[in-house]
Amino acid sequence: MGFREKIMGLRRSTHQWGLVASAVLLAGTFTAYAAVSHSGMLLMDTSSGDNWPAFGRTYGEQHFSPLTQINDETIGRLKLAWYYDLPTGQPVSGPVSVDGVLYTATGYSIVRAFNVQTGKLLWEFDPKAPEAAGAKLRQGWGSRGLAYWNHKIYVGTQDGRLIAIHAKTGKQLWSVLTVDKDDVRFISSAPRVFDGKVIIGHGGADVGSIRGYVTTYDAETGKQLWRFWTVPGNPADGFENKAMEMAAKTWAGEWWKYGGGGTVWNAFSYDAELDQILIGVGNGAPWNHKIRSAGQGDNLFLTSIVALDAKTGEYRWHYQTTPGESWDYNASMDMQIATLNINGQPRKVVMQAPKNGFFYVIDRTTGKLISAEPIVKVNWASKIDLTTGRPVENPGIRYENGDRALMWPGPNGGHNWLPMSFDPRTSIVYIPTLEMPGAYDDRGIDAKTWVRTPGSAVDAAVNINLNADEPGAGEGALLAWDAVHQKQVWRVPNPGFWNGGAMATAGNLVFQGYADGTFNAFASATGKKLWSFDAGAAVIAPPITYQYKGRQYVTVLSGFGSSGALFGEKVARFGWQYREQARRVLTFVLDGKASLPPMVKTALVPIEDAGFVRNDELAGKGAEVYGRRCMVCHGADVMSGGIAPDLRVSLVPQDAEAFNAIVRGGALVPNGMPRFQELTDEQMAGVRHFLRTAARDFAEGKANKWKGVGAAP
Ligand code: HEC
Repeated sequence: MGFREKIMGLRRSTHQWGLVASAVLLAGTFTAYAAVSHSGMLLMDTSSGDNWPAFGRTYGEQHFSPLTQINDETIGRLKLAWYYDLPTGQPVSGPVSVDGVLYTATGYSIVRAFNVQTGKLLWEFDPKAPEAAGAKLRQGWGSRGLAYWNHKIYVGTQDGRLIAIHAKTGKQLWSVLTVDKDDVRFISSAPRVFDGKVIIGHGGADVGSIRGYVTTYDAETGKQLWRFWTVPGNPADGFENKAMEMAAKTWAGEWWKYGGGGTVWNAFSYDAELDQILIGVGNGAPWNHKIRSAGQGDNLFLTSIVALDAKTGEYRWHYQTTPGESWDYNASMDMQIATLNINGQPRKVVMQAPKNGFFYVIDRTTGKLISAEPIVKVNWASKIDLTTGRPVENPGIRYENGDRALMWPGPNGGHNWLPMSFDPRTSIVYIPTLEMPGAYDDRGIDAKTWVRTPGSAVDAAVNINLNADEPGAGEGALLAWDAVHQKQVWRVPNPGFWNGGAMATAGNLVFQGYADGTFNAFASATGKKLWSFDAGAAVIAPPITYQYKGRQYVTVLSGFGSSGALFGEKVARFGWQYREQARRVLTFVLDGKASLPPMVKTALVPIEDAGFVRNDELAGKGAEVYGRRCMVCHGADVMSGGIAPDLRVSLVPQDAEAFNAIVRGGALVPNGMPRFQELTDEQMAGVRHFLRTAARDFAEGKANKWKGVGAAP
């Protein structure tokens, strides 16, 4: 559909509305229409590129810009325009930019507005999320982004609020709690806005018995409009709609007791042509299919893309990537809307690279699979059958009879939330890929007796190990993939694991940050590196670009974050430290004049702990507490890689009083260190001793005795 037709379409729907509305309503509709038309235009997939008003720039989430001033010929002149030092915390989100103002949400959703020409801070809004989050803070990834609509900025918080902020003043306009205060749901994703509605989901299925949903709110007032549950509840309570009744037939046992999961923790795409909102649904709660659903059934709508009527939230179609999911293979990754020319036919498609390692092209009018091919090492399925749309599973993957399944990819996926980018001129998609297997077994876990262990960072009913020592584990690449022919165009290896989201532009460039501290641009046709900037800190956030007063800018946030700590040495090898390198907003322009202060990077200094007497039994008890509750931020094998303080070199575990005040007393909650008030004296002594043992091993150059202790069941 062309630009003009889209405008006409909008006018038409407004007109139809008007026909049935009363005079009062009519006036209201026209006011709303005036707002929608401006913001809606900014988000159209054919918009000019001057603004980047949403996480993926437009409704179709292509992370692509039509701007060309910065291109494969001028790229040598791309220099820093300005930078802004952010406080310590997780700066991994995608910013937005509208009419010369840049908006960022970093750490726990602290929103800032900057003048794009000068970098001057215009305002700052702090929702005080860590203080409000309670136990929800334990799954703390920080915010992944924000949204713009009609002079408002929208952001979600760790404690589950959706907040609208006045874009000019930074004042809060409204706030709604989208979760239960005391459940394990939290928000890390960027909200999306379409048709005057804001949509938001949540995370939490790895931890507790929750049932996933998405909710839309009126963008102007915050009034709730509709909610769609992603998995069925207890049939005895009746079903909310026909879709839930259908989904319930794919579940077994007493799944509702475990919640079922299916959180929409990351991706949405609005399909303006078909007026439908696509949601990317996550994995099951708990992960183990045998526990969750008596080992039977596909468990809809887990690991599915679901299309909902944008007006009513009614189910239209779904495509499930991993039926009977048991490995955290969620389908929550970004979904890109496009029209591809396949076998001479224009096809309206949605594309996704979910965690399970395949790249899917799906017909978005019907939800039928068009094609699917592996993009990383995959050993769990031999192929996706195009007739049935289902994977052809390899034997042994469901860890039966106490066997261990070594799966490629592992729970981190072949592609995670760091977004891919689609160039509509060439139909090439640029994907940040990951290579890491996971070993799964459920020894010692009995379906009859399994109960949740509250307080764990992952409570999956399966033993998981990342098997980072396997050959090829911990690698990654920027992959250019031909979406029409499902084949590789080029693949440039990344320096290790957990690298940045991608952005392609009509300047024949693809941008990507690296965990090694560089921000890079590649020729989109060949993958040749054309430009690199030394950011002095890891760059994994997705970049954006926009134009103001005739100049094109590129902005990216630097600093490590997200779930990278789970990969231990694979990310710790870059040598970043939590309090050492500044996190920054970096903005570039042709012939920019700014420069960064020299980078600081020192080696970790082992500590002296003179009074320490080793007790491996006590440390072993502490290792379990650490694996369940602390590893998610402080790192596998106590190597945090700069994502949180490295507790092998912290003085705090030497001092029982300080350790208690922080861990049990919550002294550092405002800084993002959760409170673990439930830990007993014995557990506290154990985890403290475990950390002191890790410090001693580090000082003596030895491997941690509990190396590889993964997330406990
Ligand atoms: C959600 C992430 C997260 C989890 C989970 C977490 N921490 Fe932390 N921790 C942090 C952050 C962030 C800081 C730094 C806070 C600051 O800047 O003051 C921190 C700081 C600390 C410190 C102070 C270190 C220093 O040198 O300043 C200790 C000790 C600590 N954590 C122990 C633990 C223990 C023990 C657990 C598990 C029971 C745990 N943490 C779980 C994020 C986390």
